[in-house]
Amino acid sequence: MVPQSVGILGAGQMGAGIAQVMAAHGLRTRMVDVSLAALERGLGAIRSSCERLVKKDAMSEVQKTELLARITTSTHIQDFKECDFVVEAIAENVELKLKVFAQLDEICQKSAILCSNTSSISITKIAAATKRPQQVIGMHFMNPVPLMKLVEGIRGLQTSDETLKAVRTLTEELGKEFIEVKDMPGFAVNRILMPMINEAVYTLFEGIASVAAIDQAMKLGTNQPMGPLTLADFIGLDTCLAIMNVLYDGLGDSKYRPCPLLVKYVEAGWLGRKTGRGFYVYEGK
Ligand code: CAA
Repeated sequence: MVPQSVGILGAGQMGAGIAQVMAAHGLRTRMVDVSLAALERGLGAIRSSCERLVKKDAMSEVQKTELLARITTSTHIQDFKECDFVVEAIAENVELKLKVFAQLDEICQKSAILCSNTSSISITKIAAATKRPQQVIGMHFMNPVPLMKLVEGIRGLQTSDETLKAVRTLTEELGKEFIEVKDMPGFAVNRILMPMINEAVYTLFEGIASVAAIDQAMKLGTNQPMGPLTLADFIGLDTCLAIMNVLYDGLGDSKYRPCPLLVKYVEAGWLGRKTGRGFYVYEGK
């Protein structure tokens, strides 16, 4: 089943990126967030991403105009009632997710598939907040969504084969690679990536090397496109901390203890690029 009308809940960097790739593939896309300002920021990010693609001939002006025309926005979650496929991309807060999935279950068509772009929270738990757990699944995109090829498909305990197949098919239609992973804390990508980032923060905390040296070490020493501290700022330090806490609580192993320096930065509101300060300072934010 290829959806006719897709809903994206959350217009942050992930939500906007997901809306962009859905619309790029001809799907009518409705993006919902709580404020007009958030929607405007999301649309702005989509426009500037499209402009970068046009500049390097990966998209024509006409395609850009058509893509933007396929995206409608709203501040009312009820506006998802026509959608047959919804992807939630709000903050990594379990209580909030349970609440919105219960709402989506009431609002959306009976046949609609409800996906979460959560980077670490249990899909089984999210699905249990609805009366259609067989149609709830994790569809985890990577940032920046228009460029990154991977989608993790996370099957909750009650997710049906049909739902898994529909998400795999859509992922392939979007030109991305689908991998199926088990519903365990952090799934596959963040189970591996976040302890690496956390360890980079410990390396800084213990005075082993400077921010720049840690990033150079991993860029030049392991051919990563971004150093781990640059990547942490890019993802958002609040998101990194939330994921480490899910790993720590969910797996009960002290090796996942979030670095105290990461906790302090989040307490200070130094959340990375989005707030203008993380491990680096970003001018003009
Ligand atoms: N839309 C369109 N184009 C974009 C873009 C966007 N959002 N972001 C970057 N680009 C383009 C740039 O215009 C540029 O194009 P040209 O090569 O034609 O000039 C190209 O991508 C490269 O960009 P930059 O020169 O600015 O920087 P870069 O070479 O470092 O590449 C990057 C940027 C692709 C993001 C690269 O650094 C990278 O792959 N970084 C790692 C990203 C990563 O690991 N993401 C996963 C994070 S984990 C996650 O998302 C899951 C989670 O749950 C936390």
